[in-house]
Amino acid sequence: MTSPSDAEKTIVVTGASDGIGAAAARQLAKAGHRVVLVGRSLDKTKAVAAQVGTEEWFTADYAKLDDVRRLAAKLREACPRIDVLCNNAGGMFPGPVRTVDGFERTFQVDYLAGFLLTHLLLDRLLEAGATVVNTASIGAKLFGQLDLDNLNQFEGFAQDRAYGNAKLADIMHATALHQRYHGQGLSAVAYHPGVIGTNFGANAGGFMGWVYRTVGRRVMPRPATGGANLAFFAAGVPGQDWQSGQYYNNHRRVGRTHAQAYDQAMIDGLWDRTVNLLGLD
Ligand SMILES: NC(=O)c1ccc[n+]([C@@H]2O[C@H](COP(=O)([O-])OP(=O)(O)OC[C@H]3O[C@@H](n4cnc5c(N)ncnc54)[C@H](OP(=O)(O)O)[C@@H]3O)[C@@H](O)[C@H]2O)c1
Repeated sequence: MTSPSDAEKTIVVTGASDGIGAAAARQLAKAGHRVVLVGRSLDKTKAVAAQVGTEEWFTADYAKLDDVRRLAAKLREACPRIDVLCNNAGGMFPGPVRTVDGFERTFQVDYLAGFLLTHLLLDRLLEAGATVVNTASIGAKLFGQLDLDNLNQFEGFAQDRAYGNAKLADIMHATALHQRYHGQGLSAVAYHPGVIGTNFGANAGGFMGWVYRTVGRRVMPRPATGGANLAFFAAGVPGQDWQSGQYYNNHRRVGRTHAQAYDQAMIDGLWDRTVNLLGLD
């Protein structure tokens, strides 16, 4: 396997039309990598692609799993090799909202869709000894408390908890990928990008939405700071720059997240239930 550090990598970045993903895409392209952008809005994604200097971009609305399936097919066609998949698309959304697929929107957009995309690309990722980078959040520890028998939480929905749960699931997804596939050369990591002034929370309700839309935007670090964290994991060498299977804080140090993320029965239970929900093998 070639070392990614001394070669141009093919890096797929989701949520690349704005904020942290767009900033990371610019930085990674500048460093000489082939960056493939995935956004939701056609106009926004095209605009970032023009800045990045690439014509390789795709769109998918994660609130529709058929979009994710189509995206996976297009990526497979466009990229015979994928060195890094950055599952970065997401945000905090009001709810509960039932998607066309029958899942709660935050749970689907922030977790299920990225899980599905990773699964549909898995053989390609394994062939390349690839890295999967999941953009998680400190919100997993602050707000999360997963109930494996009620993952959607339509009843008694709380925006913060839905977000924390989805991000906790993203962390456990990275851990499970490491446990299941690191022996075959795949590496996986989850990280908190920092509290960053982006479009995050633009549509969220409550205090969090208000903070991000108003004062937060002015005082929080710029998207380039969060983008640099994502780019660090995407361009870094697993085992050297960071350790596969770990959760990192925004200072790029192994961090302590929610206790459920270290509970093996929860990690396995979440994997099994997710596979069932998505109808995967
Ligand atoms: N900013 C923070 O303080 C912070 C802290 C911790 C974690 N995070 C995480 O960092 C990641 C990037 O967020 P950000 O701060 O860069 O926010 P952002 O500026 O709002 O960017 C979010 C990206 O995700 C995309 N996205 C949102 N909903 C989607 C959907 N239904 N289908 C497909 N793509 C969708 C957005 O597309 P559009 O351009 O079409 O909206 C955009 O490209 C998220 O996973 C977020 O949870 C952010």
